[in-house]
Amino acid sequence: SMLVRSSASAKQSVLRRNFSSGSVPERKVAILGAAGGIGQPLALLMKLNPLVSSLSLFDIANTPGVAADVGHINTRSQVVGYMGDDELAKALEGADLVIIPAGVPRKPGMTRDDLFNINAGIVKNLASAIAKYCPHALVNMISNPVNSTVPIAAEIFKKAGMYDEKKLFGVTTLDVVRAKTFYAGKANVPVAEVNVPVIGGHAGVTILPLFSQATPQANLSADVLTALTKRTQDGGTEVVEAKAGKGSATLSMAYAGALFADACLKGLNGVPDVVECSYVQSTITELPFFASKVRLGKNGVEEVLDLGPLSDFEKEGLEALKPELKSSIEKGVKFANQ
Ligand code: NAI
Repeated sequence: SMLVRSSASAKQSVLRRNFSSGSVPERKVAILGAAGGIGQPLALLMKLNPLVSSLSLFDIANTPGVAADVGHINTRSQVVGYMGDDELAKALEGADLVIIPAGVPRKPGMTRDDLFNINAGIVKNLASAIAKYCPHALVNMISNPVNSTVPIAAEIFKKAGMYDEKKLFGVTTLDVVRAKTFYAGKANVPVAEVNVPVIGGHAGVTILPLFSQATPQANLSADVLTALTKRTQDGGTEVVEAKAGKGSATLSMAYAGALFADACLKGLNGVPDVVECSYVQSTITELPFFASKVRLGKNGVEEVLDLGPLSDFEKEGLEALKPELKSSIEKGVKFANQ
């Protein structure tokens, strides 16, 4: 009877395995900047994601330790660490999704644009390598200033002849995460049920939360909505100041990055109706890149959703953000082409 039971359960586990390998495809995810403040907790969260079969951790330093550490976790993915530019090709080959949190973070008093001089060069090099070694991968850009680093990557990809605007994303999920948290606090609704679209870009006033579309609805005064908008726009600075020179948001960013990467993987796997806000190539305003709700699918962006009805306050915010966003885009394009 022992024998019968164990063979029945062996058969069941084979069936289960067949079922799961049939329904959950192999996916390689590469994190560039994996040993950093964001990279490490992001590596942890992606190791916990059952949609990932191979987790590739790249950095210019310290990846062997991070990979050995995360690799001991008993979840699906195989983890490999790669260190230094000589190993970048191997880190990227076969990747379905590349997440980029490489580069320097802000210190108190700095804007995201102050990071441009260092991070633009890093992003340019990494984008060139992606063009060469995994041209079909989705790219999730976290490195700041996102308003410029996404256009830089797009230009590098165009030069390489493999640019697909459906596959390049600026990660603005942390703005959405913050807007949800701050809104729930004021609206007195369960935070897990809250939805708030955030549009525009990812720096200061270019971050425009649409609280008029927030659900569950709440009757908040104009003053409260103004304060919520400002707090969402300054959320990153709040963390930079609290960390007092020790960097910017890393843990909440890793959470947001993992959430967005998961949405991208679900889209790739054919899960229907996956919608997240992201900064993408866009025609919904006159700006060539713009953050809004996008529907994710097997090819990346399936549809850039329109903005929906805006309050007068939000319409003003939209017009006010355009000049800064436009100049950040142009700065990135110019850098990539010089
Ligand atoms: P960090 O300094 O802790 O880590 C950055 C990592 O990048 C380091 O491990 C470094 O060795 C690595 N790196 C540098 N050059 C590299 C290269 N060429 N290739 C691969 N790796 C390289 O910084 P942290 O806190 O992780 O922030 C990373 C970036 O994310 C910053 O640009 C920051 O502004 C941005 N950020 C973006 C947010 C968003 O909402 N999109 C939110 C928070 C931060």
